[in-house]
Amino acid sequence: MDTSLFSKAAHSPSYFELTRGMGEHGRQLADFCIPCNPYFPTPEMFGELAKNLESVLKYYPSDSGTIANRLARILKLNPATVAMSNGSTELITWMDHLWFSESVAIPIPTFGRWTDQPMETGKRVDMYPLQENSEFNLSIDDYIKFIRARKSRVAVLCNPNNPDGGYLPRREILRFMDELSDLDLVVIDESFIDFVEVERNPSVAADATIRPNVVVLKSLGKNFGLHGIRFGYLVANPALAGKMAKTLPKWNLNSLAETVVFMLEEHADEYGESLRLLARDRYQMGMELARHPDLTVYSSQANFLLVKLGAGIDGMALRDYLLQHHQVFIRECGNKLGMSSQFVRLVVRPEQDVARLVEGLHGFSQARWGQEHSGHSGPALVHSVS
Ligand SMILES: Cc1ncc(COP(=O)(O)O)c(C=O)c1O
Repeated sequence: MDTSLFSKAAHSPSYFELTRGMGEHGRQLADFCIPCNPYFPTPEMFGELAKNLESVLKYYPSDSGTIANRLARILKLNPATVAMSNGSTELITWMDHLWFSESVAIPIPTFGRWTDQPMETGKRVDMYPLQENSEFNLSIDDYIKFIRARKSRVAVLCNPNNPDGGYLPRREILRFMDELSDLDLVVIDESFIDFVEVERNPSVAADATIRPNVVVLKSLGKNFGLHGIRFGYLVANPALAGKMAKTLPKWNLNSLAETVVFMLEEHADEYGESLRLLARDRYQMGMELARHPDLTVYSSQANFLLVKLGAGIDGMALRDYLLQHHQVFIRECGNKLGMSSQFVRLVVRPEQDVARLVEGLHGFSQARWGQEHSGHSGPALVHSVS
């Protein structure tokens, strides 16, 4: 297995890059790295998609306005307030080009593109460090003070945040938006909001449409379990959403995205059930991991759990060990700003996969114990980049 793939970029290698080098083992990969809903689409929906594959691949999709209108109808939003893109990363790129003029504030750790994209285009990125001793919880008042002190012109807030899954109640986000109504832009990234269980209607998307400077961003790959399709959208007042829709390339959405969007309405119940199952798994997986003496598990409202490893355990060595010996793929957080290799992000997965992960974690602890007591450093527990 080629572990040098992990040192090539700020993000994890793709499933395809990784499994190409794993031969038969690749088929057994349990992916705890990429945060994806395992219960949606249902096997029946995949069957439906497969049946239509030939025409989906042969014909041009409709223009993105037609697809976005259908999505807006499902979401009960005014179509003029929605712009749809080829993954929400495309919108982060365009927001930076259109609306980030000089500086942007963002709590870290967070999704890497929120810091890297504006840095790549020469903007000042004001990073507000979330603190381990307050379990990476964000204080809105402190963050606003920080934004004022730095005179940031744009403020971003991910709710829930990646990689810790920290969540702020809707009323706190509304307060944040209202206190910063003088900024060029306030972005609320709700890519993981459908996984929230503690509040019935956590999204501020509809509230963004009646404010002058607020954009809510959503990624559809995570909650609909379809990262490969690359679809996401933003919600904002018609002037902002319209500007974005006109800026995006024509036919930026593909026919698979269109087919899925037009399937969603009739599968709303299965989607709701998938979220219920995921919340159940999140609770069970958290309890299971918390039993392990070397792990601290942070509370999360997203479809992943941030875990701190015990003193002296290196996340890279653990990642390599789990991949090589158990075909279990985890996200080690050493290359995330505001994190270290003592943290890993583990995607919420069904019980049988968690059993494999836990078995791997025990195997790693035993091998470590064996090495410490024999005085040898065996190859399995040392991270190598070649
Ligand atoms: C907080 C957050 N926003 C946006 C994205 C981008 O998602 P995509 O481009 O796949 O829609 C991610 C990806 O992990 C993320 O974590």
